[in-house]
Amino acid sequence: MIFVMKAAKHNIQDEIESLREEIRHHEYRYYVLDDPEISDAEFDRLMNQLKKLEAEQPELITADSPTQRVGGKPREGFVKVPHSIPMLSLDNAYSEEELRAWERRVHELSGREDIEYVCELKLDGMSLALRYEGGKLVRGITRGDGNVGEDVTANVRTVRSIPLGISKDKLKKAGLPSDFEVRGEMLMPIASFKRMNDEREKHGLSLFANPRNATAGTVRQLEPSITAQRRLDYFAYMLVAGGKNLFDQHWQALNALENSGFKVNPRRTLATNFDELWKFIGEWEEKRESLPYEIDGVVIKVNSTALHRQLGFTGKAPRWAIAYKYAARAGITQIENIHVQVGRTGKLTPVAELKPVPIGGTTVSRATLHNMDEIERLGVKIGDWVEVERGGDVIPKVTRVLDDKDHPRGRKSFEMPERCPVCGGHVVRAEGEADHRCVNQKCPAKLRETILHFASRGVMNIDGMGDALVAQLTDKGMVKDVADIYKLTKGKLLSLERMGDKSAENVLKEIENSKKLALERVIYGLGIRFVGERTAQFLAEHFGNMQDLVKASEEELQQVEEVGPRIAKSIVEFFAEPKNRELVDELRAAGLTLKGKKKERGTKLSSKTFVLTGTLANYSRDEAKKMIEDAGGKVTGSVSKKTDYVVAGTDAGSKLDKAKELGVKVIDEKGMEELVKP
Ligand code: IVH
Repeated sequence: MIFVMKAAKHNIQDEIESLREEIRHHEYRYYVLDDPEISDAEFDRLMNQLKKLEAEQPELITADSPTQRVGGKPREGFVKVPHSIPMLSLDNAYSEEELRAWERRVHELSGREDIEYVCELKLDGMSLALRYEGGKLVRGITRGDGNVGEDVTANVRTVRSIPLGISKDKLKKAGLPSDFEVRGEMLMPIASFKRMNDEREKHGLSLFANPRNATAGTVRQLEPSITAQRRLDYFAYMLVAGGKNLFDQHWQALNALENSGFKVNPRRTLATNFDELWKFIGEWEEKRESLPYEIDGVVIKVNSTALHRQLGFTGKAPRWAIAYKYAARAGITQIENIHVQVGRTGKLTPVAELKPVPIGGTTVSRATLHNMDEIERLGVKIGDWVEVERGGDVIPKVTRVLDDKDHPRGRKSFEMPERCPVCGGHVVRAEGEADHRCVNQKCPAKLRETILHFASRGVMNIDGMGDALVAQLTDKGMVKDVADIYKLTKGKLLSLERMGDKSAENVLKEIENSKKLALERVIYGLGIRFVGERTAQFLAEHFGNMQDLVKASEEELQQVEEVGPRIAKSIVEFFAEPKNRELVDELRAAGLTLKGKKKERGTKLSSKTFVLTGTLANYSRDEAKKMIEDAGGKVTGSVSKKTDYVVAGTDAGSKLDKAKELGVKVIDEKGMEELVKP
C-alpha cells in the first residue's frame, strides 16, 4: 500500500514537471519569441491543470514553477542590496562628430585599427540586474545609485519574458555557468502603457507621463499583483559572471543569453567601421516609430571583451561603449489658445492649444507650458509659432518660440487667472513657488480629483466609483469630503442617474470592503501634498496608527524614512487644519482601519550616537544612517564628547581628526555592519 502511494506520488511529480516544462516552453514562445504555437485557451488549460495538481500536492510546489510568478502578499518596502559590480551608465554622443571622436579614442587607446563593434538599440526603460544561482532566478535588483540597488525580486518574477529557472542542460549548451548575473532593460511596451493610462484615466488616477516613468513606478510597486497586470518586458544586454570572462566577444555573450532563454533584442548588428555604425543609427532613427517600445538612441559597444579590460572606465562609464542619443522628435506649429487645468492639489497648469501637427507618427494638438515661470522663460504669447517636442511623454512640451518672417510673433500675452476657472476661488502663488494654486478647499475640481484618488484601485479600491459617479456625487453635494463616501446609502445612490438597484448594492459593498484596507492606503488617500504611495507606507510603518501621525511634529516626522523638511511641513500643515482632523475622526467613526503594524526599530544601539564621515564603499550616507537608526542608534552631524562612534570612510576629513583628538572610537564600514547586526 505504501509502495502504491509512493508510486502515485512519483507519477504526479513527473506529470507536474513535464507540465511545467511544457508551460515554460510556451511562455518562451509567446513572451520571448513573440511566436506562440498554441492558443491562449490551450495555454490556460495547461496552466489550470498544473495549478490543480499543485493544489493536490502542495509540497511539490517549487519557486521556479510557472504558477509562482505572483507571490501573493504585498511587501512593506524594498531592501537595499549591494551590486556585485557597479551598475554603470554610459557616456552620450549627440552628433556624428562626437561619435567619431569616441571612435578615434578607442583606436588610440587600444592601439588598433581593426575594431569590431556591436550596435544595439538603446531601450528607454530602466536598467535592472537579475541574479541566477543554480540556474534559478534569486534576485532582481534596480540600479539604485549604481552601487546599491533595491531588491524588487517579487515584481521581477511577474514578468513573463524573464525565466524563473533555466535547466542545466540549456545553460551548458549556451556555455553559461549555473551562477551568473544578467543586466538589461525593463520596459513597458507602448501598447501596455496606453492601455494602463486609459484605465487610470477611467478611474480618475493621475497618468504616467511616459513609458519610462510607468516602468519605474511599476517595478517599485509594493504589490506584485499590480506589477503582474501591467505587462512589463525585459531585454538582456549584458552578462556578468563573477569577474570571469566567459566569452571573448560581447556578441557571443548576447547569443549565449538568447540561447538560454532570455529575450535579447534581435535588432542588433556587428559593425567593423564607422560607416556601418552610422548606417545602423540612421536606419533605426527612421524606423523607430514602428517599434512596439520607445528607444532613445543606439548603444555601441566594442565587441572584444579583452579590449573592455584594456580600455577600462572613466568615472562612471566604460570607455568601450557609448550611447548615441537621437534628437528629440519635434515639430513646428502655432499656439491658438492657452487654457488652464486644475489638478487635485489645486495646481493650475497652463496648456497650449495647438494647430494640430504630426510629430513622429502622432498628431499633437496640446502641449504643456508647466507654469508661469516657464511661460516667462520661453516668452510665449498666444498666436506664437513654437517648437514642440515629444519624448515618450503623453503631453508634449513647448521648447522654443520662433520669430522670423514666416513665423511672426503672437500678440496676446497669457495671464494666469486670478480666479480658479472651475470654482471662481482665489488663485495664489506662494512665495518661492513656481505654481499657482486655487486655495478654495472646496473647489469642485479639487474635490472631484480628491474623491477619485481616494476611491481608485491603488488606494481604497472602490470599484465602480469612477468619473461619472463621482461627478454626480460631488455636483449634487452628496459627497463633500472623503468621509461622506461612508455616509452614502442605497436611497441616496438610487436618486442618481444611471444607477440601478444592483449597481447601488455593488458600490455599497465595495465601500464596505474598503474599510478593511491597510492604514497606508488611508494615509495615501487623504491626498496630503507630497505624500505618495511610498511615503504613506513609511509613515504607516513608523507610526503604526493614525492618531500618532496626526499629532506628530515636523521633527518627529523627519525621523521617518525618506521624509525631509518639505514633506514634514506639508503633513503638519495638513493636520493643523481642524477640518482635516475632523475628517480623520469621521473616517474612524465609519469603521476604517486606522491602525497598522508598527515596524519595530532595533534597540541594540539605543542611546548610542554616531557621526558619519568620508565616503563608504557600499552605502550612501542615507543608507548608513538608516541602518544605524533601524538598530536604534542616532546619527548626528558633528563630533563631540558625547559621540559614541565615528564611522570613517575614505577621504574622511576634519571630523576624523576631531574624533582622534577627543578620543572618540573610530570604526570603519565593516565595524558599522557588525554593530548594526541584530
Ligand atoms: S549597456 C556598462 N545596452 O542606457 C554598460 N544600456 O546610460 C551599461 N540602456 O543605464 C549599459 N539599452 O539602462 C546598455 N542595449 C543597451 C541599452 C542600455 C538601454 C540603458 C541602460 C543604461 C543606460 C545608459
